[in-house]
Amino acid sequence: MSTDGLAAAQQKMQDAGVAQTAIDVFSHYYGQLEEGVTGTIPEDTIEPYLDPPKLEDVKIDVAEAKKVFDKLAIINLNGGLGTSMGLDKAKSLLPVREGKSFLDLIVEQVLAARRGTGSRLPLIFMNSFRTREDTLEVLSKYPDLPVGDLPLDFLQNKEPKLRVDDLTPVQWEADPDLEWCPPGHGDIYTALQTSGLLQQLLDAGFKYASVSNSDNLGTVPSPVIAAWFAATGAPYAAELCRRTPADRKGGHLAVRKSDGRLILRDTAQTPAEEMDFFTDEHRHPFFHTNNLWWDLEQLDAILKERKGVMGLPLIRNEKTVDPSDKSSTPVYQIESAMGAAIEVFDGATAIVVGRDRFLPVKATSDLLLVRSDLYELDERRALVKQVEQVPDVSLASGPYKLIGDFEERFGQGVPSLKQAKRLDIQGDWTFGADVAVVGEAVLGGEGGEVPEGAKVGAAG
Ligand code: UTP
Repeated sequence: MSTDGLAAAQQKMQDAGVAQTAIDVFSHYYGQLEEGVTGTIPEDTIEPYLDPPKLEDVKIDVAEAKKVFDKLAIINLNGGLGTSMGLDKAKSLLPVREGKSFLDLIVEQVLAARRGTGSRLPLIFMNSFRTREDTLEVLSKYPDLPVGDLPLDFLQNKEPKLRVDDLTPVQWEADPDLEWCPPGHGDIYTALQTSGLLQQLLDAGFKYASVSNSDNLGTVPSPVIAAWFAATGAPYAAELCRRTPADRKGGHLAVRKSDGRLILRDTAQTPAEEMDFFTDEHRHPFFHTNNLWWDLEQLDAILKERKGVMGLPLIRNEKTVDPSDKSSTPVYQIESAMGAAIEVFDGATAIVVGRDRFLPVKATSDLLLVRSDLYELDERRALVKQVEQVPDVSLASGPYKLIGDFEERFGQGVPSLKQAKRLDIQGDWTFGADVAVVGEAVLGGEGGEVPEGAKVGAAG
């Protein structure tokens, strides 16, 4: 039955005009899905990666850095839908501060870096069929953004969601768009090749790329990391951050015992009974930020050698066909992670960077932080932390998990958090304007209004 499932999925992709390489990649993973490959990486098969190079030890020659910057392209991942926050559009469209969205700020960061260095620094987004239109509309406000003939975006591939019961492509007449999904950010390698962008970048004289997520405003273009990366001669590098006890999520690199290669292990690849190792900040002291650096010539060589199929580990993502309706048909989405490609490159490396390069917004509580007075935008349009320690913020999931509900409750603005140590909102509270949290504040399950100008917390 599932062989029919694969044939039906391939046909559906062909009919929709999906590139053959993307169909080959999908078919590769389909085989694994059928075999029941789970992709788990047990602790006893890996050694911790304990001593990566550190950015704080890097000394660079400014003239050399400028040369590298002149050959650097910035690629930003924008194909995801932020479904965990209840979005069905690009998360990067959300306003962050000064009425500017993630997208606006990313553009402003790159334009500021161009002004500061005189380098071309093309900024190119990877969109999915779901995010392209809205994104290009925002980008059209910036006439100076395009560089030469390079496009402002490239489109990632799409693949059918598969029914969990028989692995055939799901049908959903109510909204046929929902029958499709982007194949995760690991698809970037295939998409760079199938879109022709990789060749275009090489033809235009770009040798390096810095890649990061559109929900991370910490990745202002960095000449220091660029120069370090070029000097290593490595084909690929990942930025890591030192893990704190609060960092329970986020994948980590490790050395695979069988062949000594660096690999990425994510939560989904860790056996449930071994999660204690995964989250132990002493055993695996660094987490993976998804900020990457590539040597485009070496990437091109590998992609050609592998005919576009990187063969990254499969991530089997179980969802419902309509993400907003948990009773709709259960489906698998076949995905892969961009950072898993570290195992493919001989000589791949990593570097430990400061926490300022990792400011992801994965949940509404993260959005509350970046919208608050804990951060200020500097002249690089980077979000700079104004306090030593960012407070712990926990929001009750019922009233705040979904973006629409969150916006209703903080419609008058988010509270001041500069003097806060902890904010724990357990009930359904709506905030008036100019509220300040001081010290530790717990707002109980009863819910209610927090009036305009109120001070909440120990000292309030
Ligand atoms: P994640 O999947 O970690 O983030 O993607 P997310 O968008 O928050 O996901 P959910 O839906 O809430 O689980 C990290 C980055 O990779 C991009 C996303 O846009 C985000 O910037 N991405 C993800 C893609 O470009 N393509 C994909 O297929 C998946």
